[in-house]
Amino acid sequence: MTTTTSPHPFWLAGGPATGGETLTVTSPRDGSVVGEVSVPTAEQVEAAIEAAVRVAPAFAAGPAHVRAAALDHVGARIEERAEEIARLISAENGKPITWARGEVGRCRSVFRWASDEARRFNGGTAQRLDSDPGGTGRLALTRRVPYGPVLGIAPFNFPLNLCAHKVAPAIAVGTPILLKPAPATPLSALLLGELLAETDLPEGAWSVLPVPNEAMPELVRDERLPIISFTGSAAVGWSILDSVPRKRVTLELGGNGAAIVLADWSTEEDLEWAARRIATFSNYQGGQSCISVQRAIVHESVYDRLLPRLVAAVEELPTGDPMDPATQVGPLIDENAARRVESWVREAVDGGAKLLTGGTQDGATVAPAVLENVPADSRLGCEEVFGPVMSVTRVRDEQEAFAVANDSKYGLQAGVFTHDVQAAFRAHRALEVGGVVIGDVPSYRADQMPYGGVKESGVGREGVRFAMEDYTYERVMVLTGLEL
Ligand code: SIN
Repeated sequence: MTTTTSPHPFWLAGGPATGGETLTVTSPRDGSVVGEVSVPTAEQVEAAIEAAVRVAPAFAAGPAHVRAAALDHVGARIEERAEEIARLISAENGKPITWARGEVGRCRSVFRWASDEARRFNGGTAQRLDSDPGGTGRLALTRRVPYGPVLGIAPFNFPLNLCAHKVAPAIAVGTPILLKPAPATPLSALLLGELLAETDLPEGAWSVLPVPNEAMPELVRDERLPIISFTGSAAVGWSILDSVPRKRVTLELGGNGAAIVLADWSTEEDLEWAARRIATFSNYQGGQSCISVQRAIVHESVYDRLLPRLVAAVEELPTGDPMDPATQVGPLIDENAARRVESWVREAVDGGAKLLTGGTQDGATVAPAVLENVPADSRLGCEEVFGPVMSVTRVRDEQEAFAVANDSKYGLQAGVFTHDVQAAFRAHRALEVGGVVIGDVPSYRADQMPYGGVKESGVGREGVRFAMEDYTYERVMVLTGLEL
C-alpha cells in the first residue's frame, strides 16, 4: 500500500470499494498527510452485513484446512512485507519504528497461532452418558458453533495487531467479521485487508469498514451481528455492553498497570533491570498501551535506591522522530491527547504531587514524567492516563503493595519484581487482574495467552484460542440406542 493522496479503497465483502466521503489520515508527528481513505456509505455497510449473513453457514461448514491456509498466507505475507507495514504503522500512529516492527512481528505470530488453532479446533468431544440408567446406550457429541458474524472494533494504539486479534480468530472458527478500524489509523487495517484479499476466503467472510465513530451505535445494535469484540476506552466499551446486554460482547478496555517491586528485588543488578524495564514500559509508544506501567509500587527497603535510577532511566529514553530506530518515545496520537495528559499532570501537582521529571507538552509530544505523592482522587491517581506518565508509591510491606495495586477500578495486568516463588504465588492469588507477570513489568503480552481484564478493564478474553472460544458456543448432539 502506498501512502499517496488518492483515496484508498476499503474492503467490502472481500473486494475493494470506494464510497462517498474521504477520510484524511495525518501524521501525529507533524500533521502531514499520510493517506486518504474512502469511507463506506450506509448502503455499503448494509451490503457488507448482508454478505456476512449470507456466507455465515457455508463459511462455518467449510473445511478447516482452507481457513488455515488463508491464515498461513496472511502470516507469510506480513513477514514478507514487514518493513513496509512497520513504516505504515509508524506513519499513521506515530509509534517509534522499533515498536512498530515489534507489532508487525507479533501480528505475524497471531496469524500463525490462528492457523494452528484452526487445524486443531474441532470442538469434538465424545461423552458416554451411561453413568446413570437413563443414559444407557447414549453418547453426547459436542461441537463448537459460531454465534454468527462478528463486529470487531479496533483502537488506534496497535493499529495492526489489535485488528489481527479480532480477524484471525474469526477466520479460524469460520465466522464472518466486519472490522471497524480506528478513524485515526485505518491504513494498517486496510493493508491487512489487502493480504486477506489474496486468499480464497469466500465473499462476505470479511470486510474492513473505516466508518466514523458516529456510525458505531447503529452497527452495535444490529441484531444480525451477535458478537461484538471491542478494544478501546472504558467509557465507550461499557456503553456498548449497556446498549446490547443480550449480545456476546468482549471488552478489552483500559488499565493503570502496576509494577510492584518487593523487598527481595534488591541487588544492584535487580534494581537496574527493574528501573530500565519500568521506565521503558511506562513510555513505550508514548504510554499508549492498556498495560503500560502507570504506577510503580516500591517496597520502602529499596525505594531510595530505585527512585533515582528510575528517574535517570526515564530521562535517558531517546525521544524524537518515530522513524529514527534509536527513538523510544514518540508523539501521542494527537495534540489534544498530549494536552489532556499534561493537564492531568498539572492537576496532580496542584493537588500536592511532586513532579520529578518531564510532564511538559509540545505539540503531540509529552516529555516522559515521573511523580511521587500523586493524590488518590486526582485523575492521574484513579483514571487511565494513556500517556508517558508514572507515579511512584512507597509501601511498607508486600500486603500493602498488593492492597495499593488493587485500589483501582481497573484490573488488567500487574508486574511483580520478586525472586521468591511463594511471593509470586501470593501475588497471583491476591492481585485483582487478568494477568500477573513475575520478574517483569505488567506490559508483557504473548499473543497466544489469555488476555483481558476484570473490574472496569473489561470482560472476555483475547489471545487467539480464547477469542475463538468467545466467538463460539458448544452444541451437543445426543446419540441414542448405541452399543457403547
Ligand atoms: C492494549 O493496549 O490493550 C494491548 C496491549 C498489547 O497488545 O500489548
